[in-house]
Order: sequence, then C-alpha cells, then structure tokens
Amino acid sequence: MKQSTAKALDPLKGKKTSAVKFSLLFSSILIFRENQKKPPKTMQTAQPPNPRPLYDIIILGASGFTGKYVVKEALKFLNTPSSPLKTLALAGRSREKLVKTLQWAAHPSSPPNDVSVIIADTTDLPSLSSLCNQTKLLLNCVGPYRIHGEPVVAACASSGCDYLDITGEPEFMEEMEAKYHEKAMETGSLIVSACGFDSIPAEMGVMFNTRQWVAPAVPNHVTAYVSLESDKRIVGNFATYESAVLGVANMDKLQQLRRSRPKKPRPVIPGPRLPNGPTIEYQEKIGLRALKLPSADAVVVRRTLVTLMENPHGLPGINESPEHIGKREAYWSSVKPAHFGVKIASKSLLGIYRILGVGVFIGLLCRFSFGRWLLLKFPSFFSFGWFRKTGPSEDEVRSASFKMWFVGYGFSDSNLASERNSKPDMEIITRVMGPEIGYVTTPISLVQCALIVLSQRENLPKGGVYTPGIVFGPDLQERLQENGISFDVVSKTALPSHAPA
Ligand SMILES: NC(=O)c1ccc[n+]([C@@H]2O[C@H](COP(=O)([O-])OP(=O)(O)OC[C@H]3O[C@@H](n4cnc5c(N)ncnc54)[C@H](OP(=O)(O)O)[C@@H]3O)[C@@H](O)[C@H]2O)c1
Repeated sequence: MKQSTAKALDPLKGKKTSAVKFSLLFSSILIFRENQKKPPKTMQTAQPPNPRPLYDIIILGASGFTGKYVVKEALKFLNTPSSPLKTLALAGRSREKLVKTLQWAAHPSSPPNDVSVIIADTTDLPSLSSLCNQTKLLLNCVGPYRIHGEPVVAACASSGCDYLDITGEPEFMEEMEAKYHEKAMETGSLIVSACGFDSIPAEMGVMFNTRQWVAPAVPNHVTAYVSLESDKRIVGNFATYESAVLGVANMDKLQQLRRSRPKKPRPVIPGPRLPNGPTIEYQEKIGLRALKLPSADAVVVRRTLVTLMENPHGLPGINESPEHIGKREAYWSSVKPAHFGVKIASKSLLGIYRILGVGVFIGLLCRFSFGRWLLLKFPSFFSFGWFRKTGPSEDEVRSASFKMWFVGYGFSDSNLASERNSKPDMEIITRVMGPEIGYVTTPISLVQCALIVLSQRENLPKGGVYTPGIVFGPDLQERLQENGISFDVVSKTALPSHAPA
C-alpha cells in the first residue's frame, strides 16, 4: 500500500511544496510507464484539467460507513480487463482507519499494494486542493454534506477536477449549483451530486417509465412507491439520519434559496395535474399502503426535467463521438416529462404508522435546539430502531433489498390531454429492484457513474453542476442492470373513463 499526504499544496496561490513536487515527479514517472502500455491519445481526446493526475479516482471519506462499502465496490473494477479504473487512492483524516478500510474491503483477498492512502480534511483547504490536483475524479463520501460538502465542491470547481457524491440533501445540491455552476463550466469540472440511492433509482426509474409511453400516448403523473424489505432489521447509519434531521430543521433556508434564484421555465406536462390523494393511500395494484416521502428524489428529478427543457436533446459532450450523439438524442427524445412524487410503502398499516411516527418526531423536535439535541442523541429511540450510531451489521446489509414501483398515469393519445375535464385513460407500472439501499445500491450507483466519467469523459459536458439523470441518463441503466439493479415493465393497462388515484 502506498502512502502519501495531501497537505502540501496551497490552493489559493498554486505554489507547490517540495513534497508535492516529489509526488508529481513520481506521478510523472508512473504515468510515463502507464502511457507506454496505452495507445497514444489523439489531439481530439478531451484533456482532463490537470494533464497528469496521479489517480483515476480518489475516494474521500473512505473510512466512513458508506465509504468503506464504496471502496469494496470500486475494488471490483480496479485493474480488471476493460475497466477504465487503473489507479485508486483512499483519502480521509486517519491513516490507520483508511488502512483498516482497505483491508476490510479487500477481504478475503489481501489488500492491493497499489492503492494509496492520503490524509485530507475538509477543514484543511490545502489538503483538498492537493487531492484535486492528484486525481481525475473525486468521490466524496463525507457527510452530512451541509456541514462538510462545500469546501470539497469549491476545491473541485476551482481546480477543474470532476466530482461525484451521494448526498440526499436538496439544499446542499441547489446551493452548490447556485454558487459553483459557472465556475465549474469555466474550469471543466463536472460536479454531480445524488449519485447514490438518492436519487439514481428514482431518476433512472422515472425515465424508464416515461419511455414506455409510445406516441401518441403521453404520461401525466408518475408516483414511485419505495418498499424496503429484509429478513432481518432494516437499519441505516447515523449520518443519514443526521442529514435528514438537519435538512428538516433548515427547510426555511431551502425556501429562501429558491426564492432568491431566477425562476426557470417548468416542463410542459400534458393534461391537468391530478389531485393529491389521501395522506395514507392503499395502492391496490401493488398491494401496499403508502405515505408521502419528503426525500430528495422528486426535487432531483424536477431539476433534471428543467435542464431537459433547456436542452431537449440532453447535454452535449465536450468532444462527443457521432455514435454517442445519436444515442443521446434518441434517449432524450423518448423521455417525456411528467409530474413526479415519491411515497414510502409498506404491506402493513403498522409499518406506515411507524414511519408516520418518525416523521412526526423529527418534524416537531427539530424546530428547537433542545429537540434536535434529543433527536441526534437518541437516534435509535426516535427512529424506532431504523437508525443506529453503529450502523447496520454486515448480515443486516446483506439481507436487505428494495423495490421501487413506478405507477404512471397518462393519456393513450396526447390530444385527449388537452380536452376539457380530461382524465387519464392509461396506466403503466414499472419497477426497479435491487439490493440494500444505503450500502450496496448506493456504492453500485456511485461506482457506475464514476466508471462512465472515466470511460466516456469526452461524451459528457465539459463542466458544470448537474443532476445525475441529465448527465448519465443514456448510459447508466444498462450498467445498473449488469450490476444487480433491475428494471422491468409490470403492466400496461387501459383505464375505464374515470380518473385513477
Ligand atoms: N444517497 C444515499 O442513499 C446515501 C446512502 C448512504 C450514505 N449517504 C450519505 O453519505 C454521507 C456519509 O454517511 P456515512 O454513514 O458513511 O457517515 P460516516 O460513517 O459518519 O462517515 C463519514 C466519513 O466522513 C469522514 N469525515 C468526517 N469529517 C471529516 C472531515 N472534516 N474531513 C474529512 N473527512 C471527514 C469520516 O472520517 P473519520 O473516519 O476520520 O471519522 C468518515 O470517513 C451522509 O451524508 C449520508 O447521508 C447517502
């Protein structure tokens, strides 16, 4: 295992200390050797911001609960035939924890000796800048993002390094877009948040559903019903709970941010908006009761659709191949806008009441500092055991899975949508299924997004702050399917003339 430090480069002045000069020299030697094995790059190939980054990927926060599962997933692709991931480093605050992480992630094999360990801290800006100078792509697993995320995004945006994360915090995402989009476009840094369970299955799932509506049919509304299943307990780690508590506590800041931003045109969706259903809905087609889930998914999907409105053929790549242009345009011309909402679903009414109970606890207590203290001090109590400071056991992770049902309503003919008092006459149900959400599906999603960045950088936009759907949409579903996340069409049904749900 190689060891290095990121604390040697001043990001503001770009002056390198001798340690970094040595590391760059070392990297030049490595890259020279690497280049001897590869065909020479043509002049047409997109240049990464730093001409000679040492690593393809650095995983920041690798020692965290999710980080270690991300490392495990990344190792599956390190130096395997046809994988673009050739060089990897783990970054974080503790060398000892990072070394242990690598041992755990490689088990039962011995840890690969070509994975480096780098010390970096989100409060130490030079260390972040140094990370950016050493890698093509940074995977940020340090959360809550509202606390730790901005310096990392700022460092990537100013250096031109690409960045992906697994946040599910809408305020963080929208604030980063507001502050760093222009800079990232200028430097060529591709910044994409929400590449985990928030919000890849939702983004790819809603697009999969709307693509089943073949002209002249059009969707109007798609609801995703998320159902978590396990033979054991369903448990999440504390940081996700903390992110949710802080997100609810700061809802007003998100509203303020939105009010301060210029309004963007909304997608045009055929037909009137369907009325909200009951608070607790019984969705008989899938046999589940469900409750509105105020997750990031609906917000992320809406942002993707807004970007699609502005770019009806998707986002052009920096130096895109003609094949990819064709693929991208065909993909986006088959995606149709629809209203979108997410519900958490359960077979039992008791399950729904438990979810409601957690929502009420968080909603009420997070308004007061003492209430927030209580929520964060006793996560297991206030979440009825769903979140623990120690996270789930490996067995609990292994035995969990999810199903996400997308129930879409729309019109068999778009002309019907514009008729007075029109009601949907068609229903399409699709489903996305996969393993445990936080520590298996999230790493799979993040790593597949990362592999797209590495293998197809010239087919992706030069830079900017975007949602995952608009960047990875045309390429991601197939990759997820190859890695254990399935997409299928459950039913297509003509409805009687009365409105559904
Ligand atoms: N989208 C999804 O579905 C999804 C799924 C899972 C997790 N997440 C999100 O991912 C984030 C991490 O969750 P987790 O459960 O893995 O949390 P965690 O176990 O607490 O891990 C946090 C990691 O961040 C590192 N860290 C903390 N402060 C740091 C700093 N100042 N500088 C550098 N590193 C620092 C920690 O390092 P040390 O080891 O040194 O303490 C640790 O490696 C959360 O925001 C969570 O919501 C999202």
